Amino acid sequence: MNLQEPLSIDLEKSIRENKTHTYLFSNNKKSVAAYQESMAKAVRMISNHLLENEKPFSGASLSSLKEKCDAVSLYDDQQHSIDYVLEELKELYVNDVINFHHPKYIAHLNCPILTPTLVAEAFISSLNSSMDTWDQSTGGTFIELKLIEWTLRKLQYPTNGDGIFTSGGTQSNLMGLLLARDHYIKTHYNMDPKMDGLPSEANKFKVLCSEISHFSLKKNLSLLGLGQNAVVPVAVDKNYKMDVNALKKTIQQQKELGNIPIAIVGTAGTTDFGSIDPLTDISPIAKENSLWFHVDAAYGGGLLLSKKHKQKLMGIGLSDSVTIDYHKTFFQPVSSSGFFMRDKSFVDYIKYHADYLNSKEQEDEGIPNMVKKSIQTTRRFDALKLWMTLRVMGADTLGQFMDSVIENAQFTAQLLQNRSDFEVLNQPEISAVVFRYTPYNGNDSSYCNLNSYIRKAIFNEGKAIITSTKVNQTVYLKFTFLNPLTTATDIEEIIEMIVHHGQHYSSNN
Ligand SMILES: Cc1ncc(COP(=O)(O)O)c(C=O)c1O
Repeated sequence: MNLQEPLSIDLEKSIRENKTHTYLFSNNKKSVAAYQESMAKAVRMISNHLLENEKPFSGASLSSLKEKCDAVSLYDDQQHSIDYVLEELKELYVNDVINFHHPKYIAHLNCPILTPTLVAEAFISSLNSSMDTWDQSTGGTFIELKLIEWTLRKLQYPTNGDGIFTSGGTQSNLMGLLLARDHYIKTHYNMDPKMDGLPSEANKFKVLCSEISHFSLKKNLSLLGLGQNAVVPVAVDKNYKMDVNALKKTIQQQKELGNIPIAIVGTAGTTDFGSIDPLTDISPIAKENSLWFHVDAAYGGGLLLSKKHKQKLMGIGLSDSVTIDYHKTFFQPVSSSGFFMRDKSFVDYIKYHADYLNSKEQEDEGIPNMVKKSIQTTRRFDALKLWMTLRVMGADTLGQFMDSVIENAQFTAQLLQNRSDFEVLNQPEISAVVFRYTPYNGNDSSYCNLNSYIRKAIFNEGKAIITSTKVNQTVYLKFTFLNPLTTATDIEEIIEMIVHHGQHYSSNN
């Protein structure tokens, strides 16, 4: 079959006749033609969306979008043409999608993505490999293993480290805490947590992390049977980094209270401020107290690729495990994340042999079934996106992207610090700036109202998207730069929008 030219069929006729199950992705000519035609339509529609939309958001209201979706019935079991459904999708979703690629989208930790990753996505979903076993993924397993090895080297982990792609930072953090918990139990009790569960003292287990660490730690500890109260917050210093003296004191206090510290989590890139805990100082404290040291580098991981900024992650290689979100600072589409451990023997804490899937015999034969390292079974070949990125663009390009988003954050902080009508909270270490508009001599409560209004007004207008957070119960605005295409002019225009909406609010209140 010559595939130089797209195959041509009367798609609608073929579907109507439905004799060949045209939409079952398969090797018959009609199915391949339907695949080509449908994908080409999707690509055309997305391309038009990119070319036609000048704003990060249309400004559509929640109620209007809900109403449109409510109007579609899934119960009448009608069939529609792909054109019909694509047009419908445009109305329901695409026209009002949040455009993370837009230079004026500077809200949450969503990065713009790279075209090679979209090529990878076509293979990932079309060929639909599942990464749990070698016999469902073949060469894919070796591609993932090679990327794990590459990341381990970037982390400067020992050669017997290991890792796995995960669905996100939340899952990677769950794995870090799971290994920390089970390592502690295995080394301190005469029991095997994998088989026997938790010892009765588990309700005294504590995990120390900075007071501004990610909420997934709390949720994960609750899932792990230790409860959210197992998180012991450690104070941060004026730069929003874990205060090492406070850490030492907190460990001591917890011991005196009869609690059992089992792990420290350092954050390399806090969600709000991008601040990086002093990893080199935390590591010896963890060692002295025989505590697991996990680093949540979901946000900061991308610094590994920056020649200018990688020293900010100094000490990361001294940890026992690390979370890295490729879908934050490696410019990958959701989902793409990694979990890494310094010693591959830790895999034993989660390893399970299922005879139908990854038998012990297969492992003895040396067959690399990745399921043993994952808390998922069926798992997407997300690694291919990073592979395509590195092969087409190279890691240095991503590092330079990081440099430019960091420059944007520093530029913004400087710009706002030079003005008397703004108050800036942090000196950006990565790419987040937290600040508020304070044009008059007001109190916290009036500034909260003013800044909340500004965030909403900007969102509803859709010309830019910024976000807000609370620091000590007080509302602040936040920019998170992840787009290397955002310019100084974009930033200045967004600040003008803040002032414009702020003045409008002030004159009406
Ligand atoms: C520091 C940090 N850790 C973990 C996460 C959770 O990552 P994910 O959303 O990929 O689950 C985030 C998300 O923003 C984060 O900022």
